[in-house]
Amino acid sequence: MTTDPAADLAADARARDAADPLRDYPALFHRVDASDVVSYLDGNSLGRPTIAATEAISAAVAQWSGRLIRGWDEEWFDLPITIGDRLGRVVLGAAPGQTAIGDSTTVLLYKLARGALAMRPDRTEIVLDTDNFPTDRYVLEGIAAELGLDLRWITVDPASGVEAGAARESITERTALVVLSHVAYRSGFLADAEEITRAAHDAGALVLWDLCHSVGSVPIELDRWQADFAVGCTYKYLCGGPGSPAFGYVRAAHLDGFTQPIWGWMGRRDPFEMEAGYIPADGIRRMISGTPSVLGMIAMRSTLDLIDRAGIAVVRDKSARLTDYVIELARLLLPEARIASPLDPARRGGHVTLDHPRFREVLPRLWDRGVIPDFRAPQGLRLGPSPLSTTYAEVLTGIEVIADQL
Ligand SMILES: Cc1ncc(COP(=O)(O)O)c(C=O)c1O
Repeated sequence: MTTDPAADLAADARARDAADPLRDYPALFHRVDASDVVSYLDGNSLGRPTIAATEAISAAVAQWSGRLIRGWDEEWFDLPITIGDRLGRVVLGAAPGQTAIGDSTTVLLYKLARGALAMRPDRTEIVLDTDNFPTDRYVLEGIAAELGLDLRWITVDPASGVEAGAARESITERTALVVLSHVAYRSGFLADAEEITRAAHDAGALVLWDLCHSVGSVPIELDRWQADFAVGCTYKYLCGGPGSPAFGYVRAAHLDGFTQPIWGWMGRRDPFEMEAGYIPADGIRRMISGTPSVLGMIAMRSTLDLIDRAGIAVVRDKSARLTDYVIELARLLLPEARIASPLDPARRGGHVTLDHPRFREVLPRLWDRGVIPDFRAPQGLRLGPSPLSTTYAEVLTGIEVIADQL
C-alpha cells in the first residue's frame, strides 16, 4: 500500500495479471501497435483476432489459389461438419455428428425453430422472454405470424433473466418450443439450462438454446442437459471475425426425422448428382442449405485450439474473476452507476452491464480515448472482457477512463 490510491490499484492489477494462469494468452492475439485502443471491453460483441488466425487465413488463401475447385473435394465440403464436431468437443459438450457450421445465427435460428415446430404439429405456442436478443424475438414473431402460432412471453427484469421457476410456470401442454438465451445479452444472467430443459421436456415441449453469449466463455453441456437444439455465433468469444458463420446443434435422437425449411442443394443427399427432388442428407449435414463460407470458418479454429489447450474450466474461472473485478472497480470508481447484472458470479456469464443516464453521451468520448465498451440502450454500458485476451490492467485502465469521462 502507498498513499497513492491509483498506484495501489495499478499494482493490484499487475499482481492479478502475474497470478493469472492464462497470463501468456493475451500475447497470442493481435494488438496492432498503431491502434489507439488502450482497453478493449467488447469481446462479447466481436473478439480480437488471434495471431494464428492470420497464418491460417493466409494458408487458406494459398490452398484456394493452389487447389482451386479441387479444394471442395479435398476439404471444404466437409469443413462445416468437421469444425462443428470440434466445437462440439471443445466448447459445447456435444458428441460428434450433431453440430454444423452454417448461416448467420438469425437464419439458423429460423431453420432450427421451424424444424422443431414441425416435430410438435399439435401444439400451438412458443415460449420466449421479453428481453431476449431482438433477432430471436423478431424471428419468432415472424414464425408465429407465418404458422398462426401464439407467443407466450415470460416478462423479465432486464437486470436479471429467466429463472427456472418462471420458465416452468410458463410452459404448458400447449407449448411446442421454448427459445431462450443461455446468457442474457443485456444483463449477462446465466440461465439454468439443464433445469429449464427438464421443465420443457416434462411438459412435452422442445428447447432451442441461443448460446451466442456463452459459447467460449461458459461451460456448455448440450448432451448432458439433453438439449434439443442450439444455435450460436462464432464472432464473439470464439473470435471467428466479423460475420463468421454460426453453428447449429440438433440432438442426435432428433436428426432422422428433422426437416429444416430451406431445402438447398448442399444439404441434399448426394448433392453433386443434381437429381430431381430434395431428399435431406443423412445426419447433421441436412442443416446446410447453400454453399457455406469456407474462409469465414478458418479463424475460429485457431481460437478453439487456444480454448482446447487452456481448458474451458480455466477460461470460465478467469472470466468470472474478470467480471468480479469489473464489479469491484465499478463500486469503487463509478459509485453512481447501477450494476445491472447478477452479483453472484455463478449466475452470471462473461459480461457486466452498468447503468447510468449519461453513458450514451459519454460513449463517443470513451472511443476517442481508446476505451471500447458496448452501449445497450437506453443507458447500459456493457463490459465484456474476453478471458483469453483481456488483462486485468486493461480492465482497470478502461474503468478509470470511464470514471474520468463521467
Ligand atoms: C444472443 C444473440 N442472438 C443472436 C444474435 C444475432 O446473430 P446474427 O446477427 O449473427 O444473426 C446476437 C448478436 O449479437 C446475439 O447476441
